[in-house]
Amino acid sequence: MSAAVDAARSVPGGRDWIVAPARAPLRGAVSVPGDKSVSHRALMLAALADGPSRIEGFLEGEDTLATARILQQLGVVIDAPAPGVRVVHGVGLHGLRGSAGDLDCGNAGTGMRLLAGLLAGQQFDSTLVGDASLSRRPMGRVIRPLAAMGARIDSADGRPPLHVRGGRPLQGGLYQTEVASAQVKSAILLAGLYAHGTTEVREAQPTRDYTERMLEAFGWPIAYGPGWARLDGDQALRATTVRVPADFSSAAFLVVAATLIPGSELALPGVGLNERRTGLLAVLRAMGADIAVTGERRLGGEVVGDLRVRHAPLHGIAVDPVHAPDMIDEFPVLFAAAACAQGTTHVQGAAELRVKESDRIAVMATALRTLGARIEETPDGAVIEGGALHGGRVDSRGDHRCAMSLAVAALRADAPVRIDDCANVATSFPGFEALAQGLGLPLQVLP
Ligand code: S3P
Repeated sequence: MSAAVDAARSVPGGRDWIVAPARAPLRGAVSVPGDKSVSHRALMLAALADGPSRIEGFLEGEDTLATARILQQLGVVIDAPAPGVRVVHGVGLHGLRGSAGDLDCGNAGTGMRLLAGLLAGQQFDSTLVGDASLSRRPMGRVIRPLAAMGARIDSADGRPPLHVRGGRPLQGGLYQTEVASAQVKSAILLAGLYAHGTTEVREAQPTRDYTERMLEAFGWPIAYGPGWARLDGDQALRATTVRVPADFSSAAFLVVAATLIPGSELALPGVGLNERRTGLLAVLRAMGADIAVTGERRLGGEVVGDLRVRHAPLHGIAVDPVHAPDMIDEFPVLFAAAACAQGTTHVQGAAELRVKESDRIAVMATALRTLGARIEETPDGAVIEGGALHGGRVDSRGDHRCAMSLAVAALRADAPVRIDDCANVATSFPGFEALAQGLGLPLQVLP
């Protein structure tokens, strides 16, 4: 990796923050970093393609950097000619080499689950490990379908580390995912590249289709639609150029902040608008938000557009569970918005939040309650009464999205809020603190 990129990586996210009430409206235009889901997939498929692929707009976040390091361990040369750019020298479908060392996915569930599928088809053994948060997360949801395909993945109690055995012939077949999860679907499809015959995945609720779109962009024949995908094994991936859109999930924090702070008008250009990601737009609009999308265009295989958000008062609603997979990463910031809205917001159908980087229902409910909000947790959601928020000290529990969501809520509190354990913000939104400060938000990083 180049020195510039290494330096970017070593900037810590900052452990604790103090966020004071917003003093001024959010105004101007701001670009957010590249999409995390797309960046992971671009690296993996480029690594398996024949020849060099270029990735532009790559997310320089800890999660995607972990995936890049793992692919390098497996013998893939990755150049970083500039920040946000990678040239991946693909080794072909059967060109990866085994690594004696553990493959460390850090905090990244996407990295671990997708790599489990990809590694299940190799001739060598691998061990995937992660940090304390990832080591608590359920992996049975990928182990079971991959085992049904013929893979062998050993783990203690379905949690990392995952010992993925190589040299196992994989069989295609029809697999129904047990939870609505793009990570599980993608793990099966990536194993399907190495399987004999046709692999088909079906899901009860459609999830983000980036793996499908990117396989298509790399020239692998695939048929797919909402809730299903089908491909044959033993084809080839053709090297290509991938342009990564700005991450809607990162933009979401600023969308909600601009909505909540009176007088704001903020532009966010070039944001990925894949319809399996933008459920929050529909929900915020139903709550009264003023968000316009203009300049919709295609960037690679994805639709991007420019968001313009103006302040608007929000009211509570019952969130239709049909939106849950399309906004699964945006619930923490929705909780913050709901706590500042007038009336009651009901969230249901979001039990998956309990097995994310943290139990996001519990972490957000506990923290917002500390700030004076009235929230009742349910097994798959919460009932949130909007009202005034106060200052206090809350814990993000090392969850990047909870940390940024609590920072957004703090902008509407009547006194400063201290937010603990924010370093992992660098996993998905490197530079968030500087960007927030540049916009005039009163966020202070404690030494
Ligand atoms: C992701 C899928 C989602 C999402 C995660 C990224 C992906 O997870 O929460 O941040 O890139 O496929 P699940 O598949 O567990 O729902």
